[in-house]
Amino acid sequence: MKNLDTSTLHGLTEMRLRALSERLSDERTRFIGFPAALDYDFAGLEPLMRTLLNNVGDPFVRTWHGMNTKDFEQEVIAFFAKLFRAPDDDYWGYVTNGSTECNLYALYVAREKYPSAPVYYSSAAHYSVPKNVHLLGMRGVAVPARPSGEMDYAALERLAAPHCSTAAIVVATIGTTMTEARDSVASIRRALQAAGVRESHVHADGALAGAYAGLLTPRWPFDFEDGASSVNVSGHKFLGSPMPSGVVIVKRVDIERVRSSANYTGSIDRTISGSRNGHLPLILWHAIQRWGVMGLKRRAEQGMALAAYTHGELQRIGWDAWRNPQALTVMLAAPPERLIFKWQLATADGWSHVICMPGVRKAMIDAFVADLAEAQLH
Ligand SMILES: Cc1ncc(COP(=O)(O)O)c(C=O)c1O
Repeated sequence: MKNLDTSTLHGLTEMRLRALSERLSDERTRFIGFPAALDYDFAGLEPLMRTLLNNVGDPFVRTWHGMNTKDFEQEVIAFFAKLFRAPDDDYWGYVTNGSTECNLYALYVAREKYPSAPVYYSSAAHYSVPKNVHLLGMRGVAVPARPSGEMDYAALERLAAPHCSTAAIVVATIGTTMTEARDSVASIRRALQAAGVRESHVHADGALAGAYAGLLTPRWPFDFEDGASSVNVSGHKFLGSPMPSGVVIVKRVDIERVRSSANYTGSIDRTISGSRNGHLPLILWHAIQRWGVMGLKRRAEQGMALAAYTHGELQRIGWDAWRNPQALTVMLAAPPERLIFKWQLATADGWSHVICMPGVRKAMIDAFVADLAEAQLH
């Protein structure tokens, strides 16, 4: 291979980065099929992006590694603990790399509490749930979901009843990946009680809708006061962060059983990773300062109004479409593959979806519907 001198390499590097930037700016104009807010802005944080930040270990325990943002991480955890109505003096949590890690952690905590309990989750739960159940060597039981995507609670009761002498672990999904259906933690608790199960851990996977389900009217029963034992949310979905992130909240009493590793960092570690991204808590903290609870509520209401508009427009052109109540997601019969690629639509079993996340604009929906209308002519 010919040797490249430094200036050529520099030129090529720049060219590649510029091309990538241009491609992503273009993709962004048609990003309507995956749940990630597009309106993040971390103005003011740029200088910190050039600094090493590592939150190794427990966010609430100081580390000798001084290049960290644990004080900001604690504030992010406190914000979500309050939003999820966790007990004031009995919560713990950390900022993760995403909701898969949140689900892994919640199931790990639940397994330490109830080592032989089966894990019930609906057939519409995210694939990370059975994946994590397998990783943890637990026994998973898929509970049928209704056509809307919500768990069939009568089926949960039937499946749990024969095993009522052991504890049960249940994963409730608060905003399923395809249809944005929400499982009711209150109904899950009632089904377990009717099945005769006396001990249980209900984890609410609120990757998408956890950020706003408690702010809507009527409010959805999913959090600690509704009977959840742990709750998670993604940072890059509704709140908005330029890289994947998540927050998991558990009860402090439950992590006492979790093995903590004392080590050379000064901080004991109860998390999954060793070194942890210190930029993510800062980015989430920044978004919380920017939006606050009322901002999150407003953005959810705006997204729902746009979703209602999208649904109406699809009906207007005669395209098969439906939407769960209080959802940002609109389900539609899958369009031709070239439009699935063009509009980056998550698609399964003949259905695609559009998600009206913050940053999706009416003009994008209008252009999408015009493409569908044109496809109908051919
Ligand atoms: C309900 C639900 N849980 C968990 C996840 C996994 O999240 P992540 O991709 O951040 O690991 C997703 C992702 O879309 C999801 O929709």
